[in-house]
Amino acid sequence: MSVFVVTDLAAGYQGHPVIDGLNLTVTEGEAVALAGRNGMGKTTALKAVMSLSVPRVSGGSVVFGHADLTRRKPYQVARAGIGYVPQGRRIFASLIVEEHLDVAARPAPTGYQAWTRDRVYALFPRLAERKQHKAGTLSGGEQQMLAIARALVTNPRLMLLDEPSEGLAPKIVRQVADIIKELPRAGVSVLIAEQDLAMVRRVADRVYFLDRGRVADEVTARELPDRGDLLDRYLGV
Ligand SMILES: Nc1ncnc2c1ncn2[C@@H]1O[C@H](COP(=O)(O)OP(=O)(O)OP(=O)(O)O)[C@@H](O)[C@H]1O
Ligand SMILES: [Mg+2]
Repeated sequence: MSVFVVTDLAAGYQGHPVIDGLNLTVTEGEAVALAGRNGMGKTTALKAVMSLSVPRVSGGSVVFGHADLTRRKPYQVARAGIGYVPQGRRIFASLIVEEHLDVAARPAPTGYQAWTRDRVYALFPRLAERKQHKAGTLSGGEQQMLAIARALVTNPRLMLLDEPSEGLAPKIVRQVADIIKELPRAGVSVLIAEQDLAMVRRVADRVYFLDRGRVADEVTARELPDRGDLLDRYLGV
């Protein structure tokens, strides 16, 4: 069982703390949302987990399965089985779809079914149709699918997704959500940072509400319909 555990994580910029005392867990087969409004620290939290050069991590720990990933290098975090889909997608406009997958591909850990191109295209039929197209010509939804596909071919056991709904029409958000929802069933646990309620509702088995850099509340998907107060307070809907 590869449980992902973040304990008392603290991180910030130029000595200014943004995340402070962040605690969360993702168990195998789960999709968990880190929900919160603009500027609450969602991106900072995911970047701190990935050990990107900014923000600076000043305390706490990140453990995945038996591996302590606290302050390891980003490539070590990736190698430990954590995939990352950054906010804003970060695709390469002049590379074709297939090249994104070829450049990113990494071997699967022993015992796990690899995400080959064909397996990825089966999950994203739209990308299969457009595999020879330059990524810059894709729609926003297709670009988001490509960003997820690119993370999948690294064969992660846990995928961090940062606001995959951003800039997408509601209908497209639902399509992307339905794909993300498939991941835990396919052996990839999910931690998704979001402020889009439709995405959170559709994807998450459990929701952490992030408020000023720490988890202020936690609910299961089952409890969510009765907790409109939390949605008001932490997402402002
Ligand atoms: N590179 C940076 N340097 C300094 N401050 C930053 C930097 N990036 C983010 N911040 C600040 O950290 C705080 C949290 O930002 P963060 O991007 O983590 O929030 P977020 O929840 O992801 O918001 P959004 O929904 O807008 O993506 C904000 O006050 C932001 O201005
Ligand atoms: Mg963000």
